[in-house]
Formats: sequence, structure tokens, C-alpha cells
Amino acid sequence: MDPIKNPFSPGAGSPPPELVGRDPALEQARILLGRIMQKRSEKSMLLTGLRGVGKTVLLNEIERLAKKNDYRTIFIEAHENKALGPLLVPYLKTLLFDLDRIAGISGKVKRGLAVLRSFVNAIHVSVGDVTFGLGVEPEKGSADSGDLEIDLPNLFVAIGEAAEDRGAAVAILIDEIQYFSQKELGALIMAMHKVQQRQLPLLLLGAGLPILPGLAGEAKSYAERLFSFPDIGALSEDDATTALKEPAQAAGVIFDSSALKEIFRLTKGYPYFLQEWGYQAWNLAKTSPITLRSVQEATAAVIPRLDQNFFRVRFDRLTPSEKNFLRAMAEIGSGPHRIGDIADILRIKATSLSPVRAKLIKKGMIYSPAYGDLAFTVPLFDKFMIRAMPTFTA
Ligand SMILES: Nc1ncnc2c1ncn2[C@@H]1O[C@H](COP(=O)(O)OP(=O)(O)OP(=O)(O)O)[C@@H](O)[C@H]1O
Ligand SMILES: [Mg+2]
Repeated sequence: MDPIKNPFSPGAGSPPPELVGRDPALEQARILLGRIMQKRSEKSMLLTGLRGVGKTVLLNEIERLAKKNDYRTIFIEAHENKALGPLLVPYLKTLLFDLDRIAGISGKVKRGLAVLRSFVNAIHVSVGDVTFGLGVEPEKGSADSGDLEIDLPNLFVAIGEAAEDRGAAVAILIDEIQYFSQKELGALIMAMHKVQQRQLPLLLLGAGLPILPGLAGEAKSYAERLFSFPDIGALSEDDATTALKEPAQAAGVIFDSSALKEIFRLTKGYPYFLQEWGYQAWNLAKTSPITLRSVQEATAAVIPRLDQNFFRVRFDRLTPSEKNFLRAMAEIGSGPHRIGDIADILRIKATSLSPVRAKLIKKGMIYSPAYGDLAFTVPLFDKFMIRAMPTFTA
């Protein structure tokens, strides 16, 4: 059918035609936004889930919700080799200048700018284009110790106070938050702790891989009291059906129920894969309804597409020993697997696997859903590994 009218949207962060099955997380966000606005304490939210489950899409939706509720928002994406300070500073500066522009002079906003300026001095990084103009002098002794765990809390408090003074509220949204170092994550947690104790109108909403709760706990043991970690997962069969059916129907097209069943069987309800199969099945079907046959044809088109893009980019970042480790996991199925079983397949001692295991966790390829267990962060990756490395030798 007409590819121009195709409603499905496979792609990183592409808003789906229908955001299905996320009402509980959105409701939790709505309550959080409402409570912080009213100076009631509430845990910040860090969404966790595998690759392609829809975390970015959901975080974007929450940002929209925050804006609708009169929050000023900052949205950043963490990267493997980018430090937290330089990433945040330009946005915080814009935010403070905006607050400064509101009629009437606010000492707290001026102070916020001064503290931010000290912070910039202390992080030593050339935050290149961050200039403050005349009249903003650093506040010596605030947020300039050079220790992020001291400076970031002071900075967040100064910003929270500036916002409070203006009757404003701030939501900081951070995607891929697991990429921050332990020190940075610790500093963020301490900053939010301090903000919460003072009941300032500033909140953090993040998203990351399932390793995030563990990382946060390692960084600061009290993290779980400050944050909730809603689990964003695959869709149920009903929701997956809705995610395919409704957008098609809006364009006057229906799916045969056998076609819907087959897509669910293949995708296990993973949102990214639902969009891929929906997209290809739509393009391959000649007319409505989209049949089982079209879905089967779509599968032949989707698998190589996933192999060449979604899976391949991740595979190419691996060293030979990392590939071998993942191939061994794939050998025993989709998982989760016991580390001992993987070691057996590789015919080595479990303890000697620790370094490669740690690297794969750091790269976000695997995670530990329960103590001693390991699983892929990318759905269907086991089958891809077998296609990419058909023969396995220990
Ligand atoms: N609730 C949903 N229903 C249907 N499709 C969805 C839903 N949420 C997301 N999608 C689709 O899933 C795909 C992946 O979404 P998104 O990029 O937000 O995932 P992610 O969890 O951020 O992935 P990654 O970990 O790789 O960043 C997109 O094509 C999006 O349209
Ligand atoms: Mg994402």
C-alpha cells in the first residue's frame, strides 16, 4: 500500500502513531509533576528498559506533559564520553537567563547565575560558548570546589531557589543516563537529595538501560529512597494489537487477526520491532486487509534490515572476545543465563569471565536481571548472534 500513508514509525525516538500501554508511567509522571509543583515531596523517576522499548519516546511525552503543566524543561542525552557538567551548563544558563528576564529583579536568580559561573570555572572544561556577559561575577566558594559531589548539589539548590523565587518549576530530563560515570551519577543523586530536602521546585526525570538501578545503588546506597525505577517493557498482546490495529484503522486499513498474531509471535511485543513489522507489512500488502502472507513477506524484509542497522551497529562496537562471549550466550538461548553456564560453554572458569562481562555491561549489551544471571539488553539479539556468527567454537 501507499508508503507515503504508512503510519508506522520505526526509528530511535520516533513517536509511534499510538503510544500504547504507557498509561501507568504517564500517570506516575503526572502525579510527580503535580506534587513537586505544590512542594510536596515525591521520588524522581528513572525509566528503565531494554533497547527499543520506547524510553526516549516516553521521556519526550513526559517533557510535553511537564511543559503543559508550566514547567521549564531541559532535555539532555548522556553519551559514553561526555561529562555531565559541560552537557548541562549551556541549558542551565539559558534557563537562568530566562528567569532573569521576567519583570522585576530577583536576587536569587542573580545568585543562581553567579553560582553557575563558579561551577563553570571549577569544571575547567572550556564550555566554549558559555559566556555570561557583564554583570555576572562568580560567587566564590559556591559550587567551585572542583568536587562534583559537592558542587552539583550546591548548583542545583541555587537553581531551585531561583526558580522558586520566580514562582517557576524546573524539570531536568536526561536520556541514556547510565552512561554517566559513577561519580557523576553519585553527584546527581546527591544533588536531587539536597533539592528534595529543601522542597525546591526542581525535579529529575531520566531514562536508561536496566543496569541503571544497580549503578545508582552502587553510586549512593540511598538512591532507591529518592528514585523510583518504572520498568518499561514489551507490550502485552492486547496492547501490541492495539499499537498495530488503531493506526492502520485510522488510515482505513485493517489487519487480519492471523497477521496480528504472527507479528506478536515474532516481536514478543517489543515496540521497535512492532513498528518495523507494521511498516514493512503495510508496504508489502497490496490491499486491505493486511494478511498473514504479507507479514511473512515482511519478515523476510525486516530481518536483514534489523541485521544491517539495529543489530549491526551494536555488534561492530565489540571486541572479538566480547563477540565470543555473546555468541556463547546465544548458543544456550535467549536467556537469562547463569554465568556458570556461559563459562561451561566457553570451557573456562566463571571468574576469568569477569573482565569481559564487565565491559559488555558497560557497553550496555548485557545486564544482570538477578544476582548471577545475565541477559541481553537488545531483544532478539541471541538469534542475530547466531546469524552473524553461524559456527561457534569455544
Ligand atoms: N508504546 C509504544 N507503542 C508502540 N510503539 C512504540 C511505543 N513506544 C515506542 N514505540 C516505538 O518503538 C521505537 C523505539 O522507541 P524509542 O527510541 O523511544 O526506544 P528506546 O527505549 O529509547 O530505545 P534505545 O534504548 O535504543 O534508545 C520507535 O520506533 C517508537 O515509535
Ligand atoms: Mg532511547
